[in-house]
Amino acid sequence: MENNAPGDMISAKPFRLVKFFSFTSLAVIIVTSLVLSLLISNYTKNVLLQRSEAYNLVLAENVSHQIFQQFVLPLALQNRQIAVEDPRQFKQLDKVVRSATHGMNVHSVTIFSKKENQISYSTISDLVGEKGLGQVEYERALNGENVSVLRLNGSLLNFLPGMGDITCQLRTFIPLRKEKPFSPTRDVMGVIEIVQDLTDDLEALIRLQAWIIFTSLTIMGGLFLALRFIVARADRIIEARTEERRKLEVKLNHSQRLASLGKMVASVAHEIKNPLGIIRSTAEILGKRVGKVAPENSHLAEIIVQETTRLDGIVREFLDFARPQQPRLKPLLINDVLARVTDFMAPEFGKRNIEIKRNFDPALPHIQGDFDQLYQACMNILVNAMQAMPNGGTIFITTGLAIDRKKVFLSIADTGTGMSEEMLAQIFLPFVTSKSRGTGLGLAIVKNIVDNHHGVISVVSRQGEGAEFIMEFQL
Ligand SMILES: Nc1ncnc2c1ncn2[C@@H]1O[C@H](COP(=O)(O)OP(=O)(O)OP(=O)(O)O)[C@@H](O)[C@H]1O
Ligand SMILES: [Mg+2]
Repeated sequence: MENNAPGDMISAKPFRLVKFFSFTSLAVIIVTSLVLSLLISNYTKNVLLQRSEAYNLVLAENVSHQIFQQFVLPLALQNRQIAVEDPRQFKQLDKVVRSATHGMNVHSVTIFSKKENQISYSTISDLVGEKGLGQVEYERALNGENVSVLRLNGSLLNFLPGMGDITCQLRTFIPLRKEKPFSPTRDVMGVIEIVQDLTDDLEALIRLQAWIIFTSLTIMGGLFLALRFIVARADRIIEARTEERRKLEVKLNHSQRLASLGKMVASVAHEIKNPLGIIRSTAEILGKRVGKVAPENSHLAEIIVQETTRLDGIVREFLDFARPQQPRLKPLLINDVLARVTDFMAPEFGKRNIEIKRNFDPALPHIQGDFDQLYQACMNILVNAMQAMPNGGTIFITTGLAIDRKKVFLSIADTGTGMSEEMLAQIFLPFVTSKSRGTGLGLAIVKNIVDNHHGVISVVSRQGEGAEFIMEFQL
């Protein structure tokens, strides 16, 4: 059951902030900038319209006043009928209108007669005499109302090729009245239509709208990229932390299991150790006696002694692993440790046709270490190397100062069988062995010793090409 825990952790992938953030924020940014630009340009359009409408009204009132004062009144005083179709009267009216609108932003001025919905005068000469052009606004103005209508054709799309021109006209209709005191009731004589061309303003407005959309999209886009970058980083950090936590949990699990296993192993090993000692000494005594009585069977007792010695070795290994001693650190030379181990193992190497090539750095500085523990670590590695070369070979032992001159390294390389990638990944774990009579504790003990010395151990190996173990210790 316990083994499932790390797997569960792996599947619980950290929340992908980036993806969620990317799509929602992009949508929010686009909608926000569009709404913002529409709000601003609508507001501006309304202000512009209100101003233009007020302007048109004042202008229309002024034109109406001027026409009455300078055209209608003089004719009335001379007792003449108003007949605009008369070219002289038309010219006079035209003069009045043009002087009243001179310099103003006016596209056209048109006067509709009261009867027959006919145009009696217009600054656009083609329209003069036309009938029925006055629409509902004309009717309302005849009833005394001031009316403004906006005719516009234009949006952002008009900037696209082939979409037609932008046009915008504000048309204001007001009644043309007689003035007091000549007409106390201010009778309506006709309708004046003043057209203001707002195309340029609308064009500027649409340009402003486009500009707002463009700038807000650019700014928001920049902001979005910056945020995305930050969020992506945060995501990576979260992911790294989760991964770290997962590893830690696996490690903790592993060491908890090892600790309980270690306790069990230690107590069993301890119980075995004493009877084993008794068996061995008894077998030795027995061997001597059997030797006297039946010399041909004395090798049987020897077998018991050999096997109990081997068992003793295994039990000691178990105990070493299960109850690692704290190193008693003293200044020492790695070269001395290696010299002692290789001297001790030299006869065995000789027997197995193994050659030792030492390349010790003579100027190697001392490190703080526990001689016995490092001796044992080197021995375990050398025994493995020896076992990996059943038909003999060479072991290269090298020591030296690391490039940064802050560490001492030692390397033990052999020309043995080497190992697979799979094996390589787990050789430092306890009970991992490829040998029929191995316990798989040798390298686990080496790792413990190196860890307790705050050192680092690494291994390079390829199947069939030998293996190299490198240890590094801080100065
Ligand atoms: N120099 C080497 N060449 C090839 N394989 C090696 C070498 N050193 C270690 N191994 C592999 O790593 C395994 C684990 O080694 P380790 O020393 O921990 O255990 P072991 O030698 O099998 O048993 P023991 O507890 O008796 O040492 C070995 O079984 C072997 O497969
Ligand atoms: Mg071993």
